[in-house]
Amino acid sequence: MALVGFGTVGRAVARILSERNNDGLLRLTHICNRNVERKKQTWVAEPWFPNDVVWTEDLRAVLQADVDIVIELIGGLTAAEELVRGALNAGKSVVTANKQLIARHGPDLLQLASANSCQLEFGASVAGGVPVLPALRTGLSGDRLHGIAGILNGTCNYILSRIETGRIPFSEALEEAQARGYAEADASEDLDGGDARAKLAILALAGLQVRVSPSDIRARTIRPIDAVDFDYAAELGCTIRQISRADMKETTLFADVGPSLVPTSSPFGRVQKNLNLVLTSGKYGGDMAFLGAGAGGDPTAVAVVSDLMFVAESLATGPRPHRPLLLASPNVSCDFETPWYLRFLVKDQPGIIAGLAAILSAHQLNIDAVLQNPGFDKNALPFVITLEPCRDAQLHPALQEMSALPFALRPCLCLPILP
Ligand SMILES: NC(=O)c1ccc[n+]([C@@H]2O[C@H](COP(=O)([O-])OP(=O)(O)OC[C@H]3O[C@@H](n4cnc5c(N)ncnc54)[C@H](OP(=O)(O)O)[C@@H]3O)[C@@H](O)[C@H]2O)c1
Repeated sequence: MALVGFGTVGRAVARILSERNNDGLLRLTHICNRNVERKKQTWVAEPWFPNDVVWTEDLRAVLQADVDIVIELIGGLTAAEELVRGALNAGKSVVTANKQLIARHGPDLLQLASANSCQLEFGASVAGGVPVLPALRTGLSGDRLHGIAGILNGTCNYILSRIETGRIPFSEALEEAQARGYAEADASEDLDGGDARAKLAILALAGLQVRVSPSDIRARTIRPIDAVDFDYAAELGCTIRQISRADMKETTLFADVGPSLVPTSSPFGRVQKNLNLVLTSGKYGGDMAFLGAGAGGDPTAVAVVSDLMFVAESLATGPRPHRPLLLASPNVSCDFETPWYLRFLVKDQPGIIAGLAAILSAHQLNIDAVLQNPGFDKNALPFVITLEPCRDAQLHPALQEMSALPFALRPCLCLPILP
């Protein structure tokens, strides 16, 4: 096997391979990274350091090498895509942890692998060490799944659970996550849902057999969530998590990523810190849950090595027959029907509730509750209206009208309330 990318995950893979009992199944022969001498100098003193492999900076040398499997762990899109296509075209199987690559090009790359009688495995690309993709591929392949939902981004979950437990502002929770290495300096991909929707697209591909582009999935940011939202959510028996969900109904895939209210006692409500949780719903098997470390070198490397073992075992049984991929290309919609949490920030004055109620009523939307705690500055007063179930599309025009009212200091924060 050739390992390309000797970074956080690549090094952990190399260490696990070196510490495994030598069962003859997996043998690392090449490691490729740019500035390879610098990498070697940094890690050569480690007891697991692989001295007996060919070290190279040349990606083409990897493609020409006599290896059965290429492990792509450089991340990013262009170079990784070239490498993976090159390897598959050369008849080499590929194991990758690259979610952006698989979310955008997974279906095409799977076809390419099949056409070349080799394998493409990407179990580490979603939920790191949690074996949800292998479960979709094998343990649940006998079911017909119709729904997948998850806490797929550890950074968002860390920040939201810190606001919840510390009642600290969003900015402080983000700084803390950055200081502890749970969030990057530019965390936009995490906070604004780009990372989670790429993972949701991969789960939908593997579990629902649909081809969906991440950009077709609506992503809502967690940036406006404030400590006060956890106070109001608690009054409703809920907390707030970034939830990614996909439901297949006939020819439409309902999909959405963003902060949502979930009952405190639900599986999602209990997920703390940077853990991941994925729930699947199947026609025959009902609901299943997968919980664990969604990132980090070692957990992610476990998923990579498990994929390597799967590929090596299948290679040992001979070439795989060419099997065309049967993927549906559904309409993608975010028009879920749920109850809603609306949090307003207003300059207090008489007639606010009457003004909002008039707009809601004009759009045939039913108020469930109005929550207003005492003690806030009247010049920046947060209060909440919850709505009975209605469709996203029905609510949207009312939100625009309410946010344009003169007493509104910010657009209304609108979160679905999930069961
Ligand atoms: N870290 C996690 O927790 C985690 C979890 C799940 C999935 N993943 C995925 O795993 C993959 C690897 O992540 P990582 O955290 O290990 O990243 P990383 O620490 O940045 O490692 C990437 C390595 O690849 C090298 N590299 C980058 N581009 C290259 C190129 N064109 N040619 C040769 N070498 C190149 C880098 O070299 P330099 O050191 O010179 O930059 C670095 O050593 C990514 O797809 C990531 O999304 C990571």
